[in-house]
Amino acid sequence: MNKKTEEFSQLIEENLYKYFNTYFDEYKVLFDSMEYSVKNGGKRVRPLLTMLFCDACGGDPLKAVQLAVAVEYIHTYSLIHDDLPCMDDDDYRRGKPSNHKVYGEAMALLAGDGLLTAAFERIATWSRAGLIDCDVAISAISELSAYAGSRGMIGGQVIDIQNEDNKDIKLETLMMLDNLKTGALIEAACSLGCIAARANDDKIQAAKEFASNIGLAFQIKDDILDVTSSFEKLGKAIGSDMENGKTTYVTLLGVEECQKLVDKLTDEALKALDAFENNEALKEYALYLAKRDY
Ligand code: IPE
Ligand code: IPE
Ligand code: MG
Ligand code: MG
Ligand code: MG
Repeated sequence: MNKKTEEFSQLIEENLYKYFNTYFDEYKVLFDSMEYSVKNGGKRVRPLLTMLFCDACGGDPLKAVQLAVAVEYIHTYSLIHDDLPCMDDDDYRRGKPSNHKVYGEAMALLAGDGLLTAAFERIATWSRAGLIDCDVAISAISELSAYAGSRGMIGGQVIDIQNEDNKDIKLETLMMLDNLKTGALIEAACSLGCIAARANDDKIQAAKEFASNIGLAFQIKDDILDVTSSFEKLGKAIGSDMENGKTTYVTLLGVEECQKLVDKLTDEALKALDAFENNEALKEYALYLAKRDY
């Protein structure tokens, strides 16, 4: 890993857990359950992208890290809910039993709710304390809520559920599904980095162009790994999509074509990075994502 990426990873880890240290004894279990899912195992792709874009725009990493943490909280909540029996019904996540397998379904639902709310609490509270400028906080909240919400990630999850056992799903619908369920939060992650650095609209647009390509590539890669990887590598069950009757890019195009598509989308994403002078670490990270095997 690039030295800068390593440094940012460390900064993210240092800031992820403080929220769970203040709790009510009467229901400490909620905070334990939230912390359980945030801890360990995640690749931290989205918060790293926030940090790397802030850096590529010449911003101060300390101005971006709370936004990065907020994005990871939303991502983690989405995984807790995604694994529930009423959704994908998966028993393992990030190399350990899924949240509901340890804390029960009701607590898993509530831990997800807690993390989603904590994301926005965090940005707003840091802004009130003067650590994030108010206009930056408002833009970040506006962007993050739009992309994570019903017109973004949640919408994608809905299409995903609607399409279980639907063998007639078209490639364009799949693209919309993947752009929303996975691409949207990645777009928010990248643009938040630019917002933290007070970058101009052209840079934010370029970051979104990068993110929509890398986001689709990321989900196609996720679908490939669901077929080709192993539990040991992924830390989650493989074959989950097939078991749930899901049509993915892999079922329609096959693994080889899908990897070609991942490479093509990554190339497109790399082109968008030309808008940034300081783009070496980002380029390296995008290439790592295309080649990842977990
Ligand atoms: C998994 O995301 C779910 C998708 C949207 C594809 P990640 O592969 O980033 O999961 P973690 O955060 O590393 O566990
Ligand atoms: C998850 O997609 C997308 C969100 C949680 C928003 P998947 O269902 O493909 O993710 P995995 O394979 O369970 O990690
Ligand atoms: Mg799912
Ligand atoms: Mg799933
Ligand atoms: Mg998957």
